[in-house]
Parts: sequence; structure tokens; C-alpha cells
Amino acid sequence: MFEFKGVTRRFGAKTAVDNVTLDIPTGQMVGVIGRSGAGKSTLLRMINRLADPSSGTIYFDGRAVSGLRGAELRSWQRDCAMIFQQFNLVPRLDVLTNVLLGRLNHRSTVTSIFNMFSREERIMAIAALERLGIEQVALQPAGTLSGGQQQRVAIARALMQQPRVLLADEPIASLDPLNAKVVMDALADINDREGITVICNLHTLDTARSYCERIIGMAAGKVVFDGRPEELTKEAVSLIYGADGALDESMTSTSITIAAAEEPSEATAAPQPLVLLGV
Ligand SMILES: Nc1ncnc2c1ncn2[C@@H]1O[C@H](COP(=O)(O)OP(=O)(O)OP(=O)(O)O)[C@@H](O)[C@H]1O
Ligand SMILES: [Mg+2]
Repeated sequence: MFEFKGVTRRFGAKTAVDNVTLDIPTGQMVGVIGRSGAGKSTLLRMINRLADPSSGTIYFDGRAVSGLRGAELRSWQRDCAMIFQQFNLVPRLDVLTNVLLGRLNHRSTVTSIFNMFSREERIMAIAALERLGIEQVALQPAGTLSGGQQQRVAIARALMQQPRVLLADEPIASLDPLNAKVVMDALADINDREGITVICNLHTLDTARSYCERIIGMAAGKVVFDGRPEELTKEAVSLIYGADGALDESMTSTSITIAAAEEPSEATAAPQPLVLLGV
């Protein structure tokens, strides 16, 4: 489990995260909500050490991850997969290779991209793509896919790390409601089936409410709400978003609820048979 103890991050005179103390048990699906600039990304980035706390400590299973160095830090970053609003794929590389890149940090040296990955790893990558329902685009350049497909590739790549924690920073902010639902369903399924802790920054209240068992509300770097979705009252919402802000929930809603889950349209290039991969 995670323990945050007095975690603060300053950027010059600005305090992005202000004295946050909280626990997150293993296996929880947590949504972090708040206005732009509330400190959501900074909080997430301190977990996998893309940012370091100015003060305070983050523990995972009793070990201070905020103090790790060298090989221990690399091992922790392997345990913590992260997905981003903008997917962060290599657009010209095919989908399968993008997914296999999730294995890179399991290796100490990079030799050649062609003999770098074992047969087992390629089988694992295809299984990850199948799980996300996008195996048919395995050989297409990642840049030719729809946003929803690209985010699913990013999730498959994250799974290749065999992480203990999945961090998602606004994973659906660039997606239409249908693709947003597919991506959130995938994160919920990973949380449910693998028991991996998922911490997900979200702009939209309704998404956090429907997918997360726990919601952490941030305002000006502080945690101003921490509870179950049903405890998120109008008063709590105004604490998080400000009295002038999003009392009208439509302002923070993407209407992710969709009657029928139809598949997002596939990119046009014809899929090639997986036999070419030699698996
Ligand atoms: N690298 C940085 N240098 C300077 N200031 C930063 C840096 N990163 C974040 N900040 C500041 O810290 C505060 C919190 O930023 P953060 O990105 O964590 O907010 P956020 O809640 O993720 O916002 P958004 O919803 O827009 O993504 C903001 O005022 C931001 O300008
Ligand atoms: Mg952010």
C-alpha cells in the first residue's frame, strides 16, 4: 500500500502539492479530481519519480520510494506504469513494437530492435493487444490509429511492464465519449482482474463517480475531499472546484454513459497476418 506523509512539491514560489498525507491500499481504483493547476499531475508524477517531493515521503509497502536511487529507482519505475493524455507512442513504429517497448526497462542494455525481444515477449504483447481488443492493428504504424486505439496500445504497453501500480494522467481527456468508455473499462478491468492499484487523474466528475471506488479531490495543492463517490456532495464539489466553479456538474461532465458499446472505427490500412511475426 501507499503512504503519503506530508508530501509537498514546490516550483519556485508556487506550491503545487501542499502537505499531502494519505494512504492508498493495494488494489484500490482511485480517481483524483480538481481544477486545472490543483496539483493532480504533480502528485502522480511524484509516485513514479518523474518529479521529486520538496519535502515529505512516499512509501510503498513500507519502503520510501521518494528516496530510491540507481537500480532500485529503475526497478520501482518498472513497477509503476504510467499512461498519459497524449498516449506517448512512437507514431512511425508499428503497434506491436510500441507494445514491446514496455519491456525495455526489463533490460540492462539495448542492442538491436530486431533481436531484442524474445518469442515469449512477442506472445505476451499479442495477448495484451488481444485483451484490449486491438490485435487486428498489430502491424499498423501507431500514428495511423484513432485516439481510443492509441490509448489502448499505451495500456497494452503498460501491461508489458507487469506493473504493481498503474498511473493514468487524464487518460481520456483527448477522447470522444465512446473511446473514453472503452479506455476506462479497460483500466477498471485491469484493476479488477489483476488487483493492480490504479490511480487516475480525471477532469470529469461523472467518470470518477462511475469508475472509482475512492475519489480524492484536490484544490490548490491540498486534498480537500477523500471519500467514496456517494460522499461527494454538492458541498464537497464546491470545495474542490470552488463556489463559482462546477456546481453545475454538466461543466465537468463528458457524458461517458453510452447505450451500446460499438467499436471505434478502425484505421484504413489492411491488417497483416500475425504469422509474419514468427510467433
Ligand atoms: N515543472 C513545473 N514548473 C513550474 N511550475 C509547475 C511545474 N509543474 C507544475 N507546475 C505548477 O504547479 C501547479 C500544479 O500543476 P499540475 O500540473 O500538477 O496541475 P494539474 O492539477 O495536473 O492541472 P491540469 O488539470 O491542468 O493538468 C500549477 O500551478 C503548475 O503551473
Ligand atoms: Mg495535470
